[in-house]
Amino acid sequence: MPEQKDRIESPTARGLDERALKYSASIAYDRRLYRHDIAASIAHARMLAKQGIIPGDDAHSILRGLEEIREEIERGEFPFREELEDIHLNIEARLQEKIGEAAGRLHTARSRNDQIATDMRLFVIEACDDAVASIRRLQTALLDLAEANQNAVMPGYTHLQRAQPVLFAHHLLAYFEMLDRDSGRFLDCRSRADELPLGAGALAGVPYRLDREFVASELGFSRVSRNSIDAVADRDFVVEFQAAAAAAMMHLSRLAEEIVLWSSDEFGFLRLPVTFTTGSSIMPQKRNPDVAELARGRTGRAYGNLIAILTMLKGLPLAYNRDLQEDKQPLFDTVDTLLATLEVLTALLPALEVRSERMESAAAESYALATDVADYLVRKGMPFREAHQAVADLVRYAEGEGKSLSGLSLEEYRRYSPLFEHDVLALDVRASVAARDVPGGTAPSRVTEALKLARERLRDEA
Ligand code: ARG
Repeated sequence: MPEQKDRIESPTARGLDERALKYSASIAYDRRLYRHDIAASIAHARMLAKQGIIPGDDAHSILRGLEEIREEIERGEFPFREELEDIHLNIEARLQEKIGEAAGRLHTARSRNDQIATDMRLFVIEACDDAVASIRRLQTALLDLAEANQNAVMPGYTHLQRAQPVLFAHHLLAYFEMLDRDSGRFLDCRSRADELPLGAGALAGVPYRLDREFVASELGFSRVSRNSIDAVADRDFVVEFQAAAAAAMMHLSRLAEEIVLWSSDEFGFLRLPVTFTTGSSIMPQKRNPDVAELARGRTGRAYGNLIAILTMLKGLPLAYNRDLQEDKQPLFDTVDTLLATLEVLTALLPALEVRSERMESAAAESYALATDVADYLVRKGMPFREAHQAVADLVRYAEGEGKSLSGLSLEEYRRYSPLFEHDVLALDVRASVAARDVPGGTAPSRVTEALKLARERLRDEA
């Protein structure tokens, strides 16, 4: 057979307008899928030979050529060519240059439609694993910070008003829970991405006796797709990844926001290390929390990328449409944004200086013990609603006097209820947190237990 016959013709050689090519080429970014594409091609070629669909010798050359191409790409020596449009054609054309005619057998029983769907699933599975591992590292940093500051008491907030005292560790464990749900969402996404499209061909299946299970197991997929049309048209796994990432970034943004607030002079609960702050060009006193601000700011990109994929998919007729190529850049951007944000926050947490004395005095100075005073009256027999009213009046009086609750005398307390006795003066932030001894509460014994269980959860999953 003359070599000419098997040559991969570039779309421009087939007459594609230069401007159309420029507009449609994806090689500038889909080259990032080279490992997944090569792995899928290797599994496919092995299967084709095993099934007697292509000669064993040819399969052998294909495998060797593909391995060489992978090395070329990794060494930065691969001659990427825009006129070859995407990663699939670039690799196949290079294979042709390397091994000649046999390269033309690789695309037997396959289409770029099931090929790209396979590459994307492999990519998303890897991204889920990376996300889960990075989340685990941030969770570990949260536990380390919580354990190093186990006794710190801070005001807990609602409506950003000081509400009730809580342990700082308890507050950090709230983020641990949020991140746990995030990793659950990535694992859930992974479980549905875990399905092999190859064998679907362009959309209808292929007229060869394939062993799809073999390809699946070579690539680490646990099952094969059940419908060839869905297999090439589906990008739900990209939507799910984007949705999980958007929720995770939302959580990181909340954490970042608290770091920004707490490191302000107004709060003064944290001091940021110079290594994670920037100064101002004109205000010499500044330590700006740029990393936390950027983490907060980049969340918008993840939301935008989720909306981009949902909108791209909306209204697409079955099966493959070129619109689907637009799944890549937003996904890559989200993966990079998410992993980088997790990484930098994991590095930032251990460098924070926790100012526990400031936290505790903020909790003590405020009226954060008002609920405890009401609960005190309840324990003496007063219905809660009535106690709430009495303490509201008491607090209004104290505010008018410019006093904190601990600055009031027993005589002043008793003006609001005769049930107050000397022991009300013993109420303090420590007693307040200790009293919240319910499962999930902020009592020190509960938090110690929660920290232990959280460690175990991380260990079990590792
Ligand atoms: N670059 C394409 C994509 O990302 C690969 C599949 C092309 N298939 C096709 N029929 N043109 O979707």
